[in-house]
Amino acid sequence: MSRLLLVEDDHSVRSTITTFLELEGYSVDAVSSTRDAINRLEASAYPVVISDIYLDDRTGLDILAAARRANPGCAVILMSARGSMETVMAATQGGAFDYLAKPFELDDMLGAIQRAEASLNLEEEEEEASIDDLPPSSMIGSSACVVEIYKTISRVAPTDATVLIEGETGTGKEIVARMIHSNSARAAQPFVPVDCAAIAPALLESELFGAMRGAYTGADRDRSGVLESANNGTVLLDEIGDIELTFQLRLLRFLQEREVRPLGAARGKKVNVRVLAATNKDLQKLVQEGKFREDLWFRLNVVRITLPPLRERHGDVPLLAHHFLKLYNERYQLDARLAVSGLKALEDYSWPGNIRQIQHLMERLVLLAPQGKIDEAAVLEGIERTSSKDSGAETLAGAEAEQIKKVLLATNGNKSRAARILGIERKTLYRKLERMGLD
Ligand SMILES: Nc1ncnc2c1ncn2[C@@H]1O[C@H](COP(=O)(O)OP(=O)(O)OP(=O)(O)O)[C@@H](O)[C@H]1O
Ligand SMILES: [Mg+2]
Repeated sequence: MSRLLLVEDDHSVRSTITTFLELEGYSVDAVSSTRDAINRLEASAYPVVISDIYLDDRTGLDILAAARRANPGCAVILMSARGSMETVMAATQGGAFDYLAKPFELDDMLGAIQRAEASLNLEEEEEEASIDDLPPSSMIGSSACVVEIYKTISRVAPTDATVLIEGETGTGKEIVARMIHSNSARAAQPFVPVDCAAIAPALLESELFGAMRGAYTGADRDRSGVLESANNGTVLLDEIGDIELTFQLRLLRFLQEREVRPLGAARGKKVNVRVLAATNKDLQKLVQEGKFREDLWFRLNVVRITLPPLRERHGDVPLLAHHFLKLYNERYQLDARLAVSGLKALEDYSWPGNIRQIQHLMERLVLLAPQGKIDEAAVLEGIERTSSKDSGAETLAGAEAEQIKKVLLATNGNKSRAARILGIERKTLYRKLERMGLD
């Protein structure tokens, strides 16, 4: 029979909870003051402690500290009717297992206790998943198909060849393009990605080729296009499968002649840029459907690199998980650990969002892991929360708000530190928080 310590100053709440838990088979030591609670904690180790927050001259946060001091593995569940950002924050930072807002259903409390017990058992039998040290690298992965890709990159990088990079969303197309650039003789020159899908078709031409003053309404001065300003460097035409047929012809001409003529300009000028292209669409199929010019496809397809989806990169999930674990632990100055069961759950998942998804998930898990432990339950919950309804992070504003919330959580609400991590002025952060309705 499990023993629990219950700290609650309200007599009727205390007896209701005690009766309920005793019927569930627990042996409950119920006390009403922080002094009694701390005495009990010093006398014997409790695996689980449930405490109200506002008690007497000391609070549930003092109970939390005493319980964790007496028994670092102790799971403390705090409850309060007056939860605030600050108390929840302090509870989390102090290593509380869970926080229940009063009033709650007794079954919810039971659920929290059971989860706490399960995590304690896991803690005993579970070792930390570990990995041999690998040399640091910007591209993580050692599976056979990825090593083939490293070989292709290393061969093609020093040349000026056009490379077509294909792969599902989040498989690392942009990172491959950057690797090609940084391992070429152009490394010291600009690398400029252009998201062809994000630029309105009418503007894509002036974006790439530039426009002379007066070429269209609003062109108040001469503007050089990306292909000219990236001269001697590399341009990545991202989402190339999304450009319109008419513009495809313009692009083909450029690839043949390597000359840019800004809109409204009389003559063109030679530029020396290396062109890389990326897409998550099947270009060959688009060609068959008549949506992509075959001649342009040939031009782009001099060398093709096809990135495998993460679910086919057997063995890379542990490498990536540990890579991002380390990255975010360092970034947020945390010490989250990945349990064997957590890693198993990561390995069993299918990763529709590929590497970007595992990266975001690991960031979230590092920040939110209860007591810094990432186990199976944490992973499954994280996957559920981030895959179905990515909480508004679909929009740019939503993603920014999410990021701000995460960093604030990690910095214990310290706005100066949060602003530094986010790379923005403190004033800017305040403004953004106001706009988000947080403060
Ligand atoms: N092999 C890898 N090792 C470490 N990080 C990676 C790797 N591949 C991708 N990433 C990271 O995953 C994220 C997504 O990668 P990237 O932007 O290159 O994907 P993408 O294929 O261009 O996606 P999309 O089609 O959505 O544009 C980036 O943060 C990138 O740094
Ligand atoms: Mg991309």
